[in-house]
Formats: sequence, structure tokens, C-alpha cells
Amino acid sequence: MAFHSRSQRLSACLLICFSFMIRADGSRKLYIAYLGDKKHDDPSLVAASHHEMLSTILGSKEEAIDSVAYSYKHGFSGFAAMLTEDQAENLAELPEVISVTPNQKHELLTTRSWDFLGLNYQRPSELLQRSNYGEDIIIGIIDTGIWPESRSFSDHGYGIIPPRWKGVCQLGQEWGRTNCSRKIIGARYYAAGLNKASHKLNYMSARDMNGHGTHTASTAAGSVVEGVSLHGLGEGVARGGAPRARLAVYKVGWEEENGVYLTNAAVLAAMDDAIHDGVDILSLSLAVDEDSFGALHAIQNGITVVYAGGNSGPRSQVLFNTAPWVITVAASKIDRSFPTTITLGNKKKLIGQSLYYMLKNESNSRFQTLVNGGNCSREALNGTNIKGKVVLCIEITFGPVAKIFKDALANVHSGGASGLILALYTTDFLVSTEGCQGMPCVLIDIDIGFQVLTYIGSQRLPIVKIEPASSVTGKQVLAPKVAMFSSRGPSIKYPTILKPDIAAPGVNILAATKDAYVFNSGTSMATPHVAGVVALLKVLHPQWSHAALKSAIITSASTKDEHGTPILAEALPRKVADPFDYGGGNINPNGAADPGLIYDIDPREYNKFFECQIKKYEICNITTKPAYHLNLPSISIPELRHTIKVERTVTNVGKIDAVYRSDIQSPLGVKIRVEPATLVFNSTKKVHTFKASIKPLWKVQGDYTFGSLTWYNEQHTVRIPIAVRITIQDFYADVA
Ligand SMILES: *[C@@H]1O[C@H](CO)[C@@H](O)[C@H](O)[C@H]1NC(C)=O
Ligand SMILES: *[C@@H]1O[C@H](CO)[C@@H](O)[C@H](O)[C@H]1NC(C)=O
Ligand SMILES: *[C@@H]1O[C@H](CO)[C@@H](O)[C@H](O)[C@H]1NC(C)=O
Ligand SMILES: *[C@@H]1O[C@H](CO)[C@@H](O)[C@H](O)[C@H]1NC(C)=O
Ligand SMILES: *[C@@H]1O[C@H](CO)[C@@H](O)[C@H](O)[C@H]1NC(C)=O
Ligand SMILES: *[C@@H]1O[C@H](CO)[C@@H](O)[C@H](O)[C@H]1NC(C)=O
Repeated sequence: MAFHSRSQRLSACLLICFSFMIRADGSRKLYIAYLGDKKHDDPSLVAASHHEMLSTILGSKEEAIDSVAYSYKHGFSGFAAMLTEDQAENLAELPEVISVTPNQKHELLTTRSWDFLGLNYQRPSELLQRSNYGEDIIIGIIDTGIWPESRSFSDHGYGIIPPRWKGVCQLGQEWGRTNCSRKIIGARYYAAGLNKASHKLNYMSARDMNGHGTHTASTAAGSVVEGVSLHGLGEGVARGGAPRARLAVYKVGWEEENGVYLTNAAVLAAMDDAIHDGVDILSLSLAVDEDSFGALHAIQNGITVVYAGGNSGPRSQVLFNTAPWVITVAASKIDRSFPTTITLGNKKKLIGQSLYYMLKNESNSRFQTLVNGGNCSREALNGTNIKGKVVLCIEITFGPVAKIFKDALANVHSGGASGLILALYTTDFLVSTEGCQGMPCVLIDIDIGFQVLTYIGSQRLPIVKIEPASSVTGKQVLAPKVAMFSSRGPSIKYPTILKPDIAAPGVNILAATKDAYVFNSGTSMATPHVAGVVALLKVLHPQWSHAALKSAIITSASTKDEHGTPILAEALPRKVADPFDYGGGNINPNGAADPGLIYDIDPREYNKFFECQIKKYEICNITTKPAYHLNLPSISIPELRHTIKVERTVTNVGKIDAVYRSDIQSPLGVKIRVEPATLVFNSTKKVHTFKASIKPLWKVQGDYTFGSLTWYNEQHTVRIPIAVRITIQDFYADVA
């Protein structure tokens, strides 16, 4: 969204104006100006040039300095400033200015998960040991801050802070010098635009009020903490993926009366500082849709950027953060479940899922009165006395699970109920006893819901007993599966880029929040799993580019579970997962450590496909050269009309003498051939380029179909996913 002509501005506005953060100061709002690469090495000169430029618009240097909320001066040049609409338009006219965009507001979108991924701490995998648990790596977390007292951030036994670190420990409310350590090596916060009334809802420092940032930071790099559980549920050792990696905290998310205050301007400021500070990886569990210049500059400065894909699944085309240069993460379920027994008055036992536990002072479960609450809307509950009773809610419609749950809980709780049994299309979204105001909240399948309903109808006085959940782990739980809520591809902005890239555990992840450990679900939880794996890989392969690391993760991912059956995706109905669900597959850290071949990309290459330096245009424009020619470890062709040839280049990073053969699974309706079909590597031939020709077999307006191209030998299988849609006419497209 940028300033073009007035009519263009209006049409763009219709699409996204609802999410604009309008921080009115008189008639002024926060605008982000982007000026491209910085012209000076000295940041103070860069900032001075910003003030000078602004003073030509605002009249005086003082006003210019006053209006600037953030100066971007380390990784790239730009600023966020309070301007009127006219001033913003005048600014956009200046020849040095690439874009001026209104600031936007956005949303925030583990004991067992690491063992499941083959990174067991008691029997440390080679990857963990060889990477020294990620000790030299600095992970930047852009989120709601951190709780430094959590046991997960102990720096006991850590070596000195890597000397290349140039960050700061910004002091603030309840944040003293000792809050930074050899574990939390840096902390900064970005509060511009937060209204004064919200200050009292927050610590005005990097200290985490919300809990989200502490959870994600401890998932990526939490130290080892023994004996963690939620009242016995999910008991085990809590730790992050790279338990000795260092954390740099950038707080951009703030509590507000009705939600979280989080803006582009702040995320860009955090990225700019992170480039200066020397972080190796940025983990963003935010629905920022920051597809533009911030992440690109970070990557061109050697930082790997990992982004959550969003929680709007299982609908397609609802993926966030799909720029080709970032790693976009989907969420999967691990091999753990929390069965909860519900006993009806007729002794019939039914199984649901919950995180219900009892407090020590409570007596054992007992039978309680059970009532039917319909869909548990306010109208449905009107006139039913639910006080002190367990309420059955059946919601057969399909909507965002978090909202359905929240509404049902609010209505049932405000009526004074003592428990909630919610029948829903998914049981992926569990909320603990605390989250449920102290009551048991059990999710059941809709068919079980109707069994309970039948029982209620047959009794004069229906009763039910809910027992605390137990944890079941291992082979008896079918896993992994792509989670229902995980956003699905394709990318709307970049259909020639296959997204998401990878799936990682994101359902019922136990990690730190303040001084406790809580379960959370979301692509927010999956993202730091990938960041943790990248940290380990960076120690093993310090010379690898961001694209090489991403390639290793995608090409080694699992597409089958441990029984050898294809990984499923929760959806309506459940189905075999395809690349729009999980990209390359479910993350496989040990495989990624030794991928055999990599698909590498020089970060400057992106500029050939995505012109980011277009006057007054914030989002990098796709050039006439289709982006499926970029050397990505995937191929996506949204409009296949005739045979298309794409080239890919692979680099051998395994044994020097190696022979790889190709295995092609052509998508339905398409014939793919690869030339050469065999690649021979030796001491002088380390890089091979091959051609894949992709030919439509049908003259039918097609849906997307999926396939893969695998290079394999005895040690390695290097697999890339392929998505193709045959197109014969322009007027019709079906992506569902
Ligand atoms: C963090 O700083 C606050 C304020 O100075 C202090 O009360 C607290 O004990 C510190 N915590 C740690 C872990 O150092
Ligand atoms: C048990 O203790 C919690 C706080 O620890 C309290 O809120 C609750 O009311 C107590 N329940 C009973 C049955 O005493
Ligand atoms: C509940 O029902 C009564 C009468 O049937 C009606 O007056 C009232 O507005 C209803 N309340 C809600 C919240 O629907
Ligand atoms: C819930 O049920 C009530 C009647 O019981 C109905 O009016 C309402 O439309 C239903 N809401 C949804 C979201 O299905
Ligand atoms: C993006 O590129 C297309 C094709 O080259 C061009 O028509 C369009 O104007 C460009 N968009 C912007 C905003 O520059
Ligand atoms: C490596 O293979 C190439 C052919 O791909 C060949 O020309 C070259 O001589 C080989 N080098 C060695 C050291 O065997």
C-alpha cells in the first residue's frame, strides 16, 4: 500500500484499510518512509540526512527531529515519522524516497516436541553434540519481550558472550542491568505510538507482560530445565531447540485494552537494530506480513529470517509472510495426546481431549448435572439454568477454532457453569484449567457430541463425570499431522513461490511464560522450533548461506510418519498433506544437518526477480522473469499453458565423490523430465545444473496438482516439492 494516484490509493485502501493503525496526533499519523540502502556507514550521518530531508517538508529541523519515531540507519535507510497526509504525499514525491506507507497494526498470531524431532537431550543426538547445543549462535526474538527470571533463561555454565555482539541492554521498568546475562545478551523495546493509557498495562521495558515472547524464546533456545509439567501433564525436560544459543530480545508487542499493539514501524526498527547488533537468526511469531524490505535487508546481511505462516487454516490462500527470502512455517502435531475420560450417568465412557488437571486442594472428580447448551451462543443459552452444571455445546459450523472456543467459554462461564464439553470439527485447540477459569474444558468429536446429546434426551436428570487428562506419547499417537489451524498456501502475493516452506511442532507446546510453564498452540510455536534448528545447523555449517540452510531444511523434511504412511493434514475432511499444507514436509533436524546437496541462492539474485527499488512501491514487484526460475528448493507454476523449462543448480555438500539419480513424481496431468537424469560429483565437479521440463498433458482448466523431484543415492534423498496448475483460459481459476 503506497501512494500512487488517488484512485489507486483508494482501491488499495479497500483491501486493507481495516487493519491500519491510525494513531492520530491532530491529523497526523505514523508513516514509514523507505530510502533503500544506506548512503553512509556512520548511522548518525544517516539519521541526520533523514532529518534534513524531513525539514524540507516540515519547515524546520526541530519539527523534523520531533516527528521521527524511528530512524532506520543500520541495515537500511528510512524512518517512521508523524506526518499529515499531505506531508506524506510531498515526502513521497522526493526523488530519493522509494516508498511512503502508512504504519499498519498486526496480530500476534515443550517438553516433548524436541524428542519427537529426534533431538533427545538424555541421549543427545550427534547434531546436538556436534553443534555444542548452539552455544555460539545469537537468536533474535521479535515479540512481546521476555521474563528473565524464568528458569529457562539461566546462564549457568555459559562461556563469554561472542565478541562480535554489538547490542545493548536497554534499561526500563522492572528491567535492571542484571536482567541481561550470558543467556539474554541483549534487550531493546519499541513503544512509539502506544497510547499513554496503555502504559499502565505494560512494563515499559523488554519485560514480557503477555507471555507470548517468553514462550517463543524458550522454545527456540530455552536452557535445560528438568521436571517441567503443567500439574503433571506433559511431564519431562523443558528446553529449547538450541538450548545454549544466546537470546537477543526485541520487544514490539504491547498490551492494550482490547488486544495487542504491534506495528510495522516497530518491527522494522527491531530488524534494523538486529542487523547492527549482530544476530544470526530472527524468529518472528507475528502475522506482520512484512514481505518487503526489512527481511530482505536482514538476509542480505547474513541473517536467517524465520516467520510464522498464520493460524487461518485449513482455508487456502490465507498464508502470511510468504516472501521468497524468508522461511515460512506451518504447524504440525506431535506424538502426544491428552485423552480425557467423560463418564455418563449410564456408565458409558467417552474420550475427549483436554488439558484439565485438578488442583491439590480439590477432591476427586464427581458426577455433576449435565445440560444441553445447543451451540452455546448467548441466545441459545438464554433461559437455560446452567449454574453449577456441566454444559454440552455442539458447534457444527466451521469457523476459526480459537474464536468458537472463546465465545463458548465466555457464555458458559458467565452463566456460572462448572464445566464445558465442546463438540467441534477439531480437537486441536486445548486450553488448560487456568485458561478455562478453573473449570474442565473438554473437546470432543461431533459424533461423540451427538452420543452425549442422545443420552441427555433420554434422561430426566442427566449427569456426567470428567476425569483429569492424562498424557499419552509415542507410536500409539498418529503423528505428525498438519494442524487444522495452520494456514495453507498458495501464496497470493507470490504464486510462483511455493509456500509454506516447512512444518514444525505447533500444537500443545509446553514452554515458559513468566515463572511457570504453559501449553500454547499456533504457528507462533512452530516458528521458534525452526529457528532453534537453524541455530544448530549454523554451528555445523558456519559458511552456509541463508538459502543453503533453508534448502537443507526443506529437502530433508519428512513426508511420511514413522510407520511409513504419508503425513496427514487435518482439514474438512482429513487428507494426505500436500505442499500447500507443509511445503517440503515436517522438519527433520538430523537430516538437515547432512542434506547431501543444496540449492543455493546469492541474496543479490532476489533483486533480479523482485524489483524492490521501484519508486513509491513498498512491496517488491515481481519482474517479467517468473520467480520459478529462482534457484529455490521447490517449483511452483501457477499457470502452465505449454511446456516450461526451469533450471536448478545443486551443490554437493556431502562426500566428494557422489552419484545422484533422479526420481520424479509428476503431478497429475503433467509430465516432468529431468536432464541429465544422473549427476556425478567429484573433486573438480562440485556444482551441477540440470533442467526440468514441465509439460501439460491435459487441455483442461486444472486445479493445482502436486509432485516432487528427488535426487538420491545410498546416503541421501534430496527432495523438492512441486505444485503445478494447468491453465488454458484466463477467466477462471480454482485454487481451493
Ligand atoms: C531484573 O531487574 C529487576 C529490576 O532491577 C530486579 O528486581 C530483578 O531481580 C532482576 N532479575 C534478574 C533475574 O536479574
Ligand atoms: C483451591 O486453591 C485455589 C488457589 O490455590 C483456590 O482458588 C480454590 O478456590 C481452591 N479450591 C477449593 C475447592 O478449596
Ligand atoms: C432472552 O430472552 C428474553 C425473553 O425470551 C429476551 O427478552 C431477552 O432479550 C433475551 N436475551 C438475550 C441476550 O438474547
Ligand atoms: C446458535 O443457535 C441459535 C438458536 O439456538 C441460533 O439463533 C443461532 O443462529 C446459532 N448461531 C450459530 C452461529 O449457528
Ligand atoms: C510491477 O510490474 C508490472 C509489470 O512489469 C508493472 O506493470 C507494474 O506497474 C509494476 N507495479 C509497480 C507498482 O511498479
Ligand atoms: C570430474 O568429473 C568431470 C566430468 O563430470 C571430469 O571431466 C573430471 O575429469 C573429473 N575429475 C576428476 C578429478 O575425476
